[in-house]
Amino acid sequence: TPVFPFHGEHQSGILTPAPADRQAASCFAAFDVTAANRAELADLMRTLTDRARRLTAGGPPADPGPSHPPADSAVLGPDIPADGLTVTTGVGASLFDQRYGLAARKPAHLTPMRIFPDDSPDPAWMHGDLLLQLCAHNPDTIHHAIRDITRHTRGGLQLRWRIQGYNSPARPSGTGRNLLGFKDGTANPTGSDAAGLIWVDSPEEPAWTRGGTYQVVRLIRMLVEFWDRVSIAEQENMFGRRRESGAPLDGTKEFDTPDYAADPDATVTPATAHIRLANPRTPDTANQQLLRRSYNYDLGIDPNGNLAAGHIFTCFQQDIQRQFETIQTRLAGEPLTDYVQPFGGGYFFVLPGVTGTEDWYARTLL
Ligand code: HEM
Repeated sequence: TPVFPFHGEHQSGILTPAPADRQAASCFAAFDVTAANRAELADLMRTLTDRARRLTAGGPPADPGPSHPPADSAVLGPDIPADGLTVTTGVGASLFDQRYGLAARKPAHLTPMRIFPDDSPDPAWMHGDLLLQLCAHNPDTIHHAIRDITRHTRGGLQLRWRIQGYNSPARPSGTGRNLLGFKDGTANPTGSDAAGLIWVDSPEEPAWTRGGTYQVVRLIRMLVEFWDRVSIAEQENMFGRRRESGAPLDGTKEFDTPDYAADPDATVTPATAHIRLANPRTPDTANQQLLRRSYNYDLGIDPNGNLAAGHIFTCFQQDIQRQFETIQTRLAGEPLTDYVQPFGGGYFFVLPGVTGTEDWYARTLL
């Protein structure tokens, strides 16, 4: 399995690897930062960088000698495999409050996550000073990494919420499916289109943000028992795609491009279909598009005995207001809202990449 590069202009775990065969396991962990001052915050960022660099490269841990606690949990055995691990680190608007004197350096579009009309917000699952997105091929690699990171950052970081995600492989082919049974990620931008929509490089932003990106995480419960009682035709009209093939309603294959201009009265694809609302495919909405990288989650059952499962929606963009919030506002009240319940998540700024062995997360901020 490949080792994804840790060093670079941008962090890994966003564009790499390709959405169709990305890592199958993930965890989204939000933290409160408890560092006492700016110097301690910088120490924390150096430690976090060091752990992420080591974990993503793999290799045997240090040997502290028999009279010390072992340096590593050994969850992955004596020689730690890289296992396609990526660590993607972002910071929330709350890090720029009065504690560290960073208010003047806040990314221009970073705010606390807004509450939208169909949300059921649960404060225990929202916001955070810092977000880690960990992705790897196997869930034990994710557990090992978060355990290593929290062990080494005790005193500076306190877990706030954490959720594990998994990806479905191509069944039978193409893009993986979400827990409503539909292929998810088909129409994601790729290559230079994606790069031009996500990497921040703007004169209205503080200079240190160059090469970073904004990340939105939305924890969205799916009411799967209720969904399973809906006819396939109605399900397909809600998304605007076929359940089996993932094809748009006016096409035959998954990657066919819908042509809404040829369907102005919305007789083929309903005007309220998720994909038509999310991306009307008009020239004036092209710069609203974003890069999605969502995972399934499963939290067991709720107090009523229903499956507590759903969607870790995450997306990357240059400007949360121009991209995510514009699309989310258009989706308000869509038919799908009866079957899903957003309850948590947050807005974060993914730090620029760590460029080499001397560099560390947020060096140019701090
Ligand atoms: C497309 C599912 C929430 C934005 C899709 C597709 C599915 C899907 C099945 C079609 C396949 C694809 O292109 O990936 C869901 C589910 C959601 C959810 C189950 C919640 C539980 C959201 C949210 C946003 C969003 C919150 C953004 C605010 C988009 C976009 C597309 C899309 C931009 C691509 C449209 C296109 O370019 O044709 N979604 N989605 N989705 N979704 Fe969602």
